[in-house]
Amino acid sequence: MKVLVTGGAGFIGSHLADALLANKHAVTVVDDLSTGRREFVPGGAEFIEADITTLKFVDITQRIAPDVVCHLAAQISVSESARNPQGDAEMNICGSLNVLSAAQRAGVKRFINISSGAVYSPLATLPYRESAVAAPLSPYGVAKLAVEHYCQYFAQFRGLPTVTVRLGNVFGPRQNPLGEAGVIAIFLQRMLGGEPVEVHGSGAQAKDYIYVSDVVDALVCLLDAKLPEAKDMTGRCYNIGTGVPRSVNEIFTLLAGIASYRLAPVPGPARPADQRLVTLDCGRARKVLGWKPQVKWEEGLRWTHEWFAANRSMFAN
Ligand SMILES: NC(=O)c1ccc[n+]([C@@H]2O[C@H](COP(=O)([O-])OP(=O)(O)OC[C@H]3O[C@@H](n4cnc5c(N)ncnc54)[C@H](O)[C@@H]3O)[C@@H](O)[C@H]2O)c1
Repeated sequence: MKVLVTGGAGFIGSHLADALLANKHAVTVVDDLSTGRREFVPGGAEFIEADITTLKFVDITQRIAPDVVCHLAAQISVSESARNPQGDAEMNICGSLNVLSAAQRAGVKRFINISSGAVYSPLATLPYRESAVAAPLSPYGVAKLAVEHYCQYFAQFRGLPTVTVRLGNVFGPRQNPLGEAGVIAIFLQRMLGGEPVEVHGSGAQAKDYIYVSDVVDALVCLLDAKLPEAKDMTGRCYNIGTGVPRSVNEIFTLLAGIASYRLAPVPGPARPADQRLVTLDCGRARKVLGWKPQVKWEEGLRWTHEWFAANRSMFAN
């Protein structure tokens, strides 16, 4: 199949492009390289530098006429969305709408939308099921939820089959450690440089962390799956996580052990709009897709450490 990956020069998108090529799909990556890196795009993929919010993107999609679009391009910082909700919405809502419209016009057969556990209400029962109340705390989550609804609209009224994944906190090689998202990458980059590591709030806040190859497996499953029910392609959501909460304090201790880091954590202010506890119920993905995470927690941390130890200078300020 011909697959167009938006954001394919980024952390998750580049791993997805690798896996799609390994599965013999033809891959085109569109990315504006705002946070992504050209060298992460695998050699076998076509790369086009473009912004998804533009008409140029619509023309590119028309020319490629992909069978599947995997839409990952996004402004990914929750804090940035709180500082500049309008800018976040222009990218994450209007940009995604442009991708949806382009996909519809190009006759795409399956549109895979990447959303987040950030859409759930913190008051919903844990672990969050897909049917739990969605009431995001952050503009980032609001935008992700809006796009989920647009996906449902495009499926129901514009003939574009869509499906959404709500990811937990993804970690692994190539994650950018210089932003505010991705605590494992940030900690490793600082620990390997012998720099102080700041822990926000009490450090007891716990999220559902999932290794990047498990996320990619889920996306590849969705791409190939013969989804049996009509509702499966009308924007239905699938949680993708492990269901196990891991606290920031636990992550600090484990990574300090792996990286032989001796300094104590530096206390920092709690982050506004940060969910305290997140775990995802992934029963639907298990049942419908036959997917389940394969990578053990500490194994994923060790592999991530190995990669950052070998590539730390790539992200030097
Ligand atoms: N990493 C996580 O823990 C996590 C969790 C939940 C959801 N997600 C979602 O997964 C997707 C990928 O995230 P990631 O962690 O790989 O982040 P990333 O920043 O590494 O990847 C995003 C990519 O999109 C590109 N991009 C940004 N704006 C663009 C634009 N206007 N036009 C074209 N390309 C643009 C960036 O250059 C980058 O390569 C995002 O939609 C994100 O919201 C990530």
